[in-house]
Amino acid sequence: MNKFYITTPIYYVNDIPHIGHAYTTIAADVLARYKRLKGFDVYYLTGLDEHGQKIMEAAQAKGVEVQKHVDEMAEGFKKAWNKLEIKNDGFIRTTSEKHKKVVQEFFKKMMEKGDVYKGQYEGWYCIPCESYWTEIHLKDSPKNKDKKKYVCPDCGRPVKKVKEDTYFFKLSKYQDQLLKHFEENPDFLQPVSRKNEVLSFIKQGLKDLSISRTSFTWGVPIPGDDKHVIYVWFDALINYVSALDAFDGKNYKKYWPADVHVMGKEIIRFHAVIWPIMLMSVGVPLPKKVFGHGWWTVEGKKMSKTTGNVVDPIALAEEFGVDPVRYFLLREVPFGVDGDFSRASLIARFNADLANDLGNLLHRTLTMCEKYFKGEIPNPKNHKFDDLSKELVALSEKTIDEVDKSMNALAFSEALSKIWKVIGVANTYIEKEAPWKLAKAGETEKLEAVIFNLLEVLRITAILISPYMPSTGEKMLSELKASDIRELSFGKKLAGKKVAKGQPLFPRLEK
Ligand code: MSP
Repeated sequence: MNKFYITTPIYYVNDIPHIGHAYTTIAADVLARYKRLKGFDVYYLTGLDEHGQKIMEAAQAKGVEVQKHVDEMAEGFKKAWNKLEIKNDGFIRTTSEKHKKVVQEFFKKMMEKGDVYKGQYEGWYCIPCESYWTEIHLKDSPKNKDKKKYVCPDCGRPVKKVKEDTYFFKLSKYQDQLLKHFEENPDFLQPVSRKNEVLSFIKQGLKDLSISRTSFTWGVPIPGDDKHVIYVWFDALINYVSALDAFDGKNYKKYWPADVHVMGKEIIRFHAVIWPIMLMSVGVPLPKKVFGHGWWTVEGKKMSKTTGNVVDPIALAEEFGVDPVRYFLLREVPFGVDGDFSRASLIARFNADLANDLGNLLHRTLTMCEKYFKGEIPNPKNHKFDDLSKELVALSEKTIDEVDKSMNALAFSEALSKIWKVIGVANTYIEKEAPWKLAKAGETEKLEAVIFNLLEVLRITAILISPYMPSTGEKMLSELKASDIRELSFGKKLAGKKVAKGQPLFPRLEK
């Protein structure tokens, strides 16, 4: 059986999850569900990044003991993912003993390889991003032009000067090997638009990286030198193998290397430069793909607590339903491109795509099946009796393959628009075939074919949308009496079963 290992970043627990975190987690969940549907043995990992200065300071600001703080936050994340119907196989926390053990083992392996040396770091540090910056980075950054006080080139917040004893990791030693990997694996980093930026960063020359801190203790101690805690990004990246019980656990042997690490574009550098080199150092295969998606703004602005525009995915799901939120996020913008969230666009999509296109197709079809055949699914002699029917069947069949291509390319919005194309054509098919006329004229064979085709389109649609909208997919299949008929091919006869029409899937929102 083919395996598929997919991961999200592990999120910082300084705050509760917002729509941005939900976006990545839902996207990875959609792909994981789709791959399971296709028969893959999937491992979907998400989790939490609980160490480092930022988390420690967040707990201190609340006046709570750090471990207690991270435990509480972890419960919040788990609840949120549960509510959003995330079906993850693993949930890794960096404060777990299992993880800490692997981090130390990893560190030892790099030491043994001769890739770690002791020294002193003097430079700048951004606590919110937990990242080091040199004077040159800061000077060159457009964010620092005309400013008296340096700010982080990534997030724009003030950086701090640090000077401390540290262990360095020989990133520079692997520069050429990494460039070669990029050359030999053109699909390693996606979307391609992000590749040039990373390549030019590498070609500017990689500097050895400080990988331990001595000014606080909230982290994994370096084995044999516990004045140092391991740099939080180092600690965090290792989650992708510690969760699988590296280096000799059953899951590690089965699932590593990752098929895709999914993340926001701002942390590609860590995943496409530092992480691969860490793996090269310890002699482990690299992940097959790193995908950096775009960023959401809200009503045109960057989401932030100070602006007060942080969108809570749970409140949103409670208001609009889980499935519409999942659908909207993945349909609205191509994965990889930045998007803007607004209630107005969510409502517009809800009404147009879900209530109108999909909801009506299901409702009308089931109503006709009840009216003309007492709900019994017909078994037509020739379901491709005319050109319109042939076209509809051919389009459905083609779409199954096309959707597969889009899903494999993480082109979620594209996959959905292909599915909606069929829904649109099926709605037009109803108008053109006018089953009410066929009924009146007593053209029973044709009527059987039309209703059968529509039901079959709906069955396939239900399966294809189920990774995006799990409850909707299940509800549709159950109304079609097809819960156990999941073949993705047209023509499986549901004949003789009796459909069970339910309430409209998505009643229009009047807002
Ligand atoms: N802890 C690190 C990741 C370590 S992975 C080894 C981290 N955590 S984070 O909590 O800041 O999460 C960042 C991730 O959350 C982004 O990469 C992205 O997946 C998601 N997003 C956070 N805000 C987002 C938007 N506004 N828009 C889209 N995704 C966003 O970085």
